[in-house]
Amino acid sequence: MQGREQFATRFGFIFAAVGSAVGLGNIWRFPYMLGENGGFAFLIAYFICIALIGLPVLLAEFSVGRRGQSDAIHSFENIKAKSFGKIGGFLGVLSGTLILSFYGVIAGWVFYYLFSYLTGAAGNVESGEFEGFFGDFIASSFGPVVWQFLFMVVVIGVVYFGIKKGIEIANRTFMPMLAVLVIILAVFGLTMDGAGEALSFMFSPDFNALGDINVWGAAVGQAFFTLSLGMGAMITYASYLPKESRLPSAAGTVVVFDTFFAVFAGLMIFPIVFSFGMEPGAGPGLLFMTLPEAFGQWGLGGTIFGIFFFLFVGIAALSSAISLLEVGVSWAMRRFNAGRKPTTLIAGAIITVFGFLSALSQGAVPALTEMKIFAFLNTDGDTITFLDTLDLFTAQYTLALGGFVTALFVGWGWNKVEALRETGLQDTTLGNLWIWFLRIVAPAGILYILITNLISMLT
Ligand code: PHE
Ligand code: NA
Repeated sequence: MQGREQFATRFGFIFAAVGSAVGLGNIWRFPYMLGENGGFAFLIAYFICIALIGLPVLLAEFSVGRRGQSDAIHSFENIKAKSFGKIGGFLGVLSGTLILSFYGVIAGWVFYYLFSYLTGAAGNVESGEFEGFFGDFIASSFGPVVWQFLFMVVVIGVVYFGIKKGIEIANRTFMPMLAVLVIILAVFGLTMDGAGEALSFMFSPDFNALGDINVWGAAVGQAFFTLSLGMGAMITYASYLPKESRLPSAAGTVVVFDTFFAVFAGLMIFPIVFSFGMEPGAGPGLLFMTLPEAFGQWGLGGTIFGIFFFLFVGIAALSSAISLLEVGVSWAMRRFNAGRKPTTLIAGAIITVFGFLSALSQGAVPALTEMKIFAFLNTDGDTITFLDTLDLFTAQYTLALGGFVTALFVGWGWNKVEALRETGLQDTTLGNLWIWFLRIVAPAGILYILITNLISMLT
């Protein structure tokens, strides 16, 4: 066997890690979570969770990956044989695979919208009709499967060419495009009439909602999802790093960019929503129904904005999906001692086909639309779709559990001196702070939220 693949440059790794982080979580999930959970209060809870739990756990995943020099499970074993740590890796591979199966479906919807704006079909939808446009599309059996399939073909294609020639090049191309697009879109948003209302929705202090445990549960879930934590993606990427690169600054960069993209996504979406008198709390439909309604009232400008917007969302989703597939591929390559190309094709095919179940769960197949198993995961209805089942199960449980185990492993399981040496923080105040965050703060926070989540769902 040749040596392990590596990123060609340190920036290649940073681009890839930022590419993994910035995705549907920032542009689709963050704004609707913010809308549903009262705007500012959610923003504050989210910032706190990012700083106290997200950043330390991200640095922990980077350290495990670079030191372990293997996939999400085996990296733990390389650091310490027979440790509980690999449970975290196992949860990661499981979550990464499940998430990609439905992430690809939502990304498929995004590309369908891009296509519809390009052909003019979306621009011709009558005012008030986007609910039907969206609802009919996702409930059909052919369209969602085809678009998910096409999206997955691209994802598989990139991973097929490996770290340097596939993943690194793709991300180096996409990330600058994203940065330019988000700035153009946010400037547009901020010059609209609703900008003032949007800014006060996002930034005017309201600390009452911070007493609401559901806001905190949503914020922790969002922190894990948005930073790609708890599912082995960051462990896997860091395992392709050469020894000398500095991990803390890489972790800081990822957090800053991810937060920047989330806040800017809010700054481009909410002004439009308010300008056209729409509801910010529309939930998951914000991106696919509310926003297009607003684009529609805007005429040709809305169509042009729509094209750039869905292109932006699609690229962001692509770079995240690539990292999700790499988690499983990296594991399977070692586990079955197989080459990258066949492994990518087989793993990709399995995940794509499994994803058909999610694609067909929005009305096409009744058995998948009204699922009772795990219905208790849902706070307000008795049945949920297969897609929502996977989303809730991973975002609220397995990701947090994976992060919990990783934090405990680096905090308590791994020799402290070695862990500190791996990050380059050494025995400094910052280093010790990091260790204690992993020992106490992050696990306690995660546990508290997991338990209250569970209780609020069962009662
Ligand atoms: N962080 C990505 C987002 O915000 C989602 C993701 C999760 C990507 C896990 C990879 C791994 O959309
Ligand atoms: Na993100």
